[in-house]
Amino acid sequence: MAIHRQIYIPPEGPPPPDPRLSEIYDKMGEDNIFKMLEDFYLALGKSEIREMFPKDLKNASQKSGEFFVFLLGGPPLYQQRHGSPRMRQRHFSFRIDEHARQVWMACFRETLINADAKYNFPLEYKEAFELFLERFSSWMVNTASD
Ligand code: HEM
Repeated sequence: MAIHRQIYIPPEGPPPPDPRLSEIYDKMGEDNIFKMLEDFYLALGKSEIREMFPKDLKNASQKSGEFFVFLLGGPPLYQQRHGSPRMRQRHFSFRIDEHARQVWMACFRETLINADAKYNFPLEYKEAFELFLERFSSWMVNTASD
């Protein structure tokens, strides 16, 4: 895909992998991970960046759910169904600036409130998971702020 605009490159580069994250899948189970991503997409749907996302949020949340299943230590569903993740490249067609990232993060933080009760999310991993989301979302920024 040809991108005809100035792409911003975050100076800190991609985040280091955190092996602790891969312990989460066994504790939550696959259905809870998909449910968490579904709720996250519903939160995105009520946010300022709603227009970036497809109309059918439930369907869109599936793909992200597949990615998070692998990220959290489950089978490589995303790779099997869609190929190599290349997440930064896959986000190039969207203008993601620091503000859009903040909105995205706020939606994820909201989703993670009471995540232990809602999705059986192991709370002892919450800090590491949020730190990963902070770093990875910073790496997805591809547009300089105005
Ligand atoms: C920084 C803020 C971010 C914004 C504004 C953003 C926005 C988007 C948009 C508009 C799409 C396309 C619609 C869709 O299929 O959902 C998308 C796809 C996706 N995003 Fe993000 N994203 C961000 C960060 C992240 C992060 C941090 C991750 C993972 C940790 C992620 C994972 C994905 C995945 C797996 C897809 C599906 C890719 C595909 O089409 O195969 N995104 N994102």
